[in-house]
Amino acid sequence: MKTYYIETYGCQMNVADSELVAGLLKQSGYTPTNSEADANAIFLNTCAIREHAEDKIHSRLGTLKKLKKERPEILIGILGCMAQHVKDDILYNKSYVDFVLGPDSYRHLPSLLKRQEYKRDSIVDTRLSKFEVYENLFPSRKEGVNAWVSIMRGCDKFCTFCIVPFTRGRERSRNLKSIIEEVEQAVDEGFLEITLLGQNVNSYKSNKTRFPELLNSISEIKGVKRIRFTSPHPKDINDEMLFVMRDKSNICNSVHLPLQAGSDRILKKMNRTYTKSEFIHLAEHIRNVLPNCGLSTDIIAGFPSETDKDFEDTLDVMEQIIFDSAFTFKYSPRPGTKATEYSNHISEKVKDDRLQKLIKLQQSHTIKRNEKEISKVVKVLVEKNSKKSNQQWAGRTDANKWVIFPKKDTQIGDFVNVKIVDARGISLFGELDEKKEISSAII
Ligand code: 5AD
Ligand code: SF4
Repeated sequence: MKTYYIETYGCQMNVADSELVAGLLKQSGYTPTNSEADANAIFLNTCAIREHAEDKIHSRLGTLKKLKKERPEILIGILGCMAQHVKDDILYNKSYVDFVLGPDSYRHLPSLLKRQEYKRDSIVDTRLSKFEVYENLFPSRKEGVNAWVSIMRGCDKFCTFCIVPFTRGRERSRNLKSIIEEVEQAVDEGFLEITLLGQNVNSYKSNKTRFPELLNSISEIKGVKRIRFTSPHPKDINDEMLFVMRDKSNICNSVHLPLQAGSDRILKKMNRTYTKSEFIHLAEHIRNVLPNCGLSTDIIAGFPSETDKDFEDTLDVMEQIIFDSAFTFKYSPRPGTKATEYSNHISEKVKDDRLQKLIKLQQSHTIKRNEKEISKVVKVLVEKNSKKSNQQWAGRTDANKWVIFPKKDTQIGDFVNVKIVDARGISLFGELDEKKEISSAII
């Protein structure tokens, strides 16, 4: 029996792609292993979003080179967003890598593996497709309560800092029927929560179906207890989407709303297509339509030419909105993107200082928002062991907040009512509200 080991870097889209690859490897007679030391094939599913992500892969390749020396029969594959970038380097300098496959080339994997059995040479396929959405393939999912379901791929927004439109190509959506079938299958396999994925998930457009109708259709599938989606673009959020979220109890009450920057001048240079005040109004509007909606965001510190004054606008938006959580990054120049050509790049020192300010401010906002939950009883889906103790579970609320609480006699997949008693770091801590415990079977 041949075995494979796959390591996934970057966003949830890559996690979903690795499950797709796992499904294809299963078809080819491979079974997964957790140990790279005895795997017949090793795959790195890579991310190119920031330089740091690429650096990690380069150092991993160093260790794989050694492994290949000890066991020359092992197959090594580089998948995903870095494929485009590294292909020349691999072809000319890294002969120990057997495959380089871009995000639209996974369908070829079974035939390529067959070919490698009689002809060992490096195979590079990084062509991007206008059509590939991996319909009719069945991902081999990891156990748990959540199933990732990719509904669209690629991005046409071309934010000037972002490499995704180049690494993942043009925007394209799967047809509704194939998405519904995949969700039904996931439910049959026992998954309770469905997370719809796409680089711009709410730009979804297939024939006449748009994102709100898709959400609605998924919410009506029997057995779908919770629906999440990521990552939306603020420009494509509309009332139809918010009303479906409001009206369907199994669609979670949380929205990821990537801000990126607060100053109108920087937003324009980023090509984000909204202004500071439009963004603030949108956040207010979401909270009006969806009371207690969890709002998370992405923010970049030190975009080229960002002045102290521009940066204060970012802090000001944060103060006005008070996000529940935020992913914060230092701007990282990506080859081929427009922003790399802009003048006045910001020093590492200034980027570091600004990033620290973002982190500190967000920490205080997360605590502020989470403290409002103390003494409330919230419904939590039990998802996994808490990192700190195996006597405690970790699960999320509807608004996407992590809650840690004692296990008692509950199990993964149960919906339980938890009384929140504390808020620390990014988590809530609670006690089971015994009388009101709900079992997943009766939801
Ligand atoms: N530098 C820093 N952060 C970036 N992101 C995307 N490209 C870059 C870059 N070049 C961030 C954005 C995006 C998130 C997924 O990654 O905030 O929303
Ligand atoms: Fe990148 Fe912008 Fe597309 Fe998001 S919307 S993937 S940030 S180009």
